Amino acid sequence: MERIKINVPDSYDVIIGKGILDKTADFLKEVGIEGKLAIVCDSNVAPLYLGRLESALKAGGYDTVHFVFPAGEESKNLDTLSDILEFFAESGLTRRDTAIALGGGVTGDMTGFASGAYMRGISYVQIPTTLLASVDSSVGGKTAVDLKAGKNLAGLFIQPKVVICDTDTLNTLEEGVYADGMAEVIKTAILGDAELFEALEKGSPRDNDEYVISRCVAYKGRVVSEDEFEMGVRKLLNLGHTPAHSVEKLSGYTVPHGHAVAMGLGIMTRSARAEGLIDQSLEKRILSLIEKYSLPTVSPYSSKELADTAFFDKKRQGNSISVIKVRGIGDCFIEKLQMNEVEALFTRGIK
Ligand SMILES: NC(=O)c1ccc[n+]([C@@H]2O[C@H](COP(=O)([O-])OP(=O)(O)OC[C@H]3O[C@@H](n4cnc5c(N)ncnc54)[C@H](O)[C@@H]3O)[C@@H](O)[C@H]2O)c1
Ligand SMILES: [Zn+2]
Repeated sequence: MERIKINVPDSYDVIIGKGILDKTADFLKEVGIEGKLAIVCDSNVAPLYLGRLESALKAGGYDTVHFVFPAGEESKNLDTLSDILEFFAESGLTRRDTAIALGGGVTGDMTGFASGAYMRGISYVQIPTTLLASVDSSVGGKTAVDLKAGKNLAGLFIQPKVVICDTDTLNTLEEGVYADGMAEVIKTAILGDAELFEALEKGSPRDNDEYVISRCVAYKGRVVSEDEFEMGVRKLLNLGHTPAHSVEKLSGYTVPHGHAVAMGLGIMTRSARAEGLIDQSLEKRILSLIEKYSLPTVSPYSSKELADTAFFDKKRQGNSISVIKVRGIGDCFIEKLQMNEVEALFTRGIK
């Protein structure tokens, strides 16, 4: 079992280990959680883990209620958020009670948002059950729902009280969903972890989820503790994400986030090579690593389509946009580009 402390003003631990779902009550008591627990999870995760979690919590003396919504990104909207808030109210939750997100990034993002909004903020706990949620979305306190105009356009920052990641839950993930998480793992390795990068090249993370997740959480924790509200260095975590967001949007969100990130990493890697920032051997290593995990490196959309769509990204600042460029493993930097330079950048990165 690993424990990683996230050093934000209200610091918290991310606990990672095999079979630790059954110990959830102990972890909640450690951080002083009392009162009622409202568990939110989706329709795929509920039959797999909800009963086990509720039994463990009841055995630990907690009173629980649960809310299940239809699985999928289509549910990450204001309607479901409203249903969750109404559920909290109907369950009589007060400010001393706690919400628990049991599931992937969709569940975590909505539960966090609802917790931040309900009665102006109640505490919440993340129990990630996808690789993506374990390495990325459950840490750092960003929450959101999608609006018709685009993804994650409404949200707030709220840090969880504790994150409990039972690596055994990843065993039931479909291959493609596991691969989505691998895209964020590879992104993290490129950003700041040469040892992880080499480990991924050599072995299979499925045999060593605890190591892979711990390394990613430690990296994200360092970045988030320096820049909780994404005013500077936290922007690095968006490596590959500008083209990725365009791919997601152009596909009508049928390309999942992780697959789109893999394409974005492919584009930023090839463009780095074209600009002379990296050599051919590193380009090949990164592209091969993405492909090793059955992820795509090539976008089905043209650089013009990607750039035009990026123009509407929420991360745009006036007429410019920040992109993250790769100069080496553990050596990426933020560059502000004028909107008309973005298409040229993507053109260099399109195969
Ligand atoms: N807040 C952040 O910082 C942040 C960062 C990255 C991504 N995100 C968000 O996260 C979301 C994507 O997360 P995701 O990929 O986890 O999506 P998800 O929550 O939809 O989960 C993917 C699929 O896996 C299923 N599932 C979850 N756990 C399972 C398990 N253990 N066994 C079997 N099936 C399981 C779900 O039901 C779903 O069908 C996006 O909405 C994205 O915007 C947020
Ligand atoms: Zn991402």
